[in-house]
Amino acid sequence: MALREIKHYERDKVLRKISRPVEKINERTLTLLDDMAETMYDADGVGLAAPQVGVLRRIVVIDVGEGIIELINPEIKDQEGEQVAMEGCLSIPGLIGQVKRPARIVVRALNRHGEKIEIEGNEVLARALCHELDHLDGVLYIDKVEPGTLEKVE
Ligand code: CO
Repeated sequence: MALREIKHYERDKVLRKISRPVEKINERTLTLLDDMAETMYDADGVGLAAPQVGVLRRIVVIDVGEGIIELINPEIKDQEGEQVAMEGCLSIPGLIGQVKRPARIVVRALNRHGEKIEIEGNEVLARALCHELDHLDGVLYIDKVEPGTLEKVE
């Protein structure tokens, strides 16, 4: 496993590109998943998407304190409700802002073994799923931030 460099929203245009689906899960995919998890934990993040380490593939990792979730080719299958809370991003250091997200979301994806899985997320997990899936389409939370709520943090 190895740490990967986290791309920065002001410097790296890769964050604005659309990621391609994973067609075949191979050794490189698994190494990427391992590296992404290590990089996320090292940075004290709760989620990381492949474009954040410069790889335009539809892969995300999330851990909101309940263990690692690895998603390959994730798609939103259902969502409902609404929540507004503070959000940050490892690619946008030093800022947080309020973002409106669904209260509950259901995502379908493949796991590292190529098996179909379904993840249901509420509250923090729903937020993390939405945030990370947006990265796969080149969307950053600052695009959706509630006006006037962006603030600097240490
Ligand atoms: Co992010």
